[in-house]
Amino acid sequence: MEKFSCKTTIISGEGAIASLAELKANRLFLVTDPYFMKNGVARKVVEAAKCAQAEIFDRVQPDPTVALAAEGTARLKAFRPDLVVALGGGSAMDCGKAMAFFAKGKYQIAAIPTTSGSGAEVTDFAVLTHDKVKHPLVDPGLKPDMAILDSDLLQELPKGLIAETGFDVLSHALESYVAKGSGNLTDLYAREAFSSAYAALPASYAGRKEVRLKVHLAATMAGMAFTQAGLGLCHALSHSLGGLYHVPHGRLNAILLPAVISCNAHVAGKKYAELARAAGMGGSADTIALRNLKNGLIRLRQELNLPQTLAQAGVDPRSVWRNAEAIVKAAQADPCCRDNPMEVEDFLIRRILEEVTGRV
Ligand SMILES: NC(=O)c1ccc[n+]([C@@H]2O[C@H](COP(=O)([O-])OP(=O)(O)OC[C@H]3O[C@@H](n4cnc5c(N)ncnc54)[C@H](O)[C@@H]3O)[C@@H](O)[C@H]2O)c1
Ligand SMILES: [Fe+2]
Repeated sequence: MEKFSCKTTIISGEGAIASLAELKANRLFLVTDPYFMKNGVARKVVEAAKCAQAEIFDRVQPDPTVALAAEGTARLKAFRPDLVVALGGGSAMDCGKAMAFFAKGKYQIAAIPTTSGSGAEVTDFAVLTHDKVKHPLVDPGLKPDMAILDSDLLQELPKGLIAETGFDVLSHALESYVAKGSGNLTDLYAREAFSSAYAALPASYAGRKEVRLKVHLAATMAGMAFTQAGLGLCHALSHSLGGLYHVPHGRLNAILLPAVISCNAHVAGKKYAELARAAGMGGSADTIALRNLKNGLIRLRQELNLPQTLAQAGVDPRSVWRNAEAIVKAAQADPCCRDNPMEVEDFLIRRILEEVTGRV
């Protein structure tokens, strides 16, 4: 049996934020980060919503904490909005979604992604950090009512952010394609998201703005896939290392993804090979397609100037091995670990750590 649902209305294209007015809200609570206050986009969103009253909570930082979300929840409750809008990357969207969820009010929730990565605009997830541990909250109540994919917001994306968040999309698509909960419909979205992002990322990185909406849509499709199929070991370990070392999520995924493919290959090899062929990497034999997939991702990682190892991302390998027990424990406790296509034993996580710290 297979179940697939998507309650989120998705509006995409140039000037899509104008559709906020269709919600006919009176009291808007906007959650964002300081960058969008400074560059005027937060104001534009408030104007587009045409509400009588608006309050802006603009204190979100990358990897938002439980304490910050609690503070924002109190402000949101006191304001009594009928529309909550989360504007920004995965961090701002997660923080806004979590605040709206904790406040338990009656309002519509709209998410406006400004990075093409997390897919949080359509997912049941929100990741909050507490005591250097990233906690993914999972609940259908976290899914936004509306996702606005406005290509105007992607024009000034910095190269580094395109690269990092692009690898987040690839890892969402790839992990959900082989996850325990995958099915025909999630496969459809995951396959299209992977092929489309893999093909368009080099051009987007090189400055071709006309392909950015393509990657943005791929991010949303990958979100639709993984929110139902689940993720896997790459995300479990990325959350564990990200909480400890505060390296951007997509950058960690880029380092981990090829190593995770090798680990899962003997149970998920066939599907990895399918994905490689769908993305045009060739390989009539599964083993060749699998090798092409791993090499293709390593090549793309180099082309996008992303680090190849944790050391290149500024994480001292000696610190990783000193903290190895805690890193393995946090990865095992992460909900994404349960979705991995094969049982995750501690030695598998240590094997991945060996590859990404350059021990092998
Ligand atoms: N909820 C989910 O389903 C889900 C899925 C994957 C990842 N996540 C979470 O999302 C977070 C990562 O999100 P992210 O990769 O989008 O980055 P982010 O939201 O952490 O933002 C990173 C930086 O980029 C800046 N930024 C964002 N958009 C920009 C733009 N258009 N131009 C210039 N700067 C911009 C932000 O101000 C911030 O300083 C992680 O905490 C991760 O755990 C959530
Ligand atoms: Fe992710």
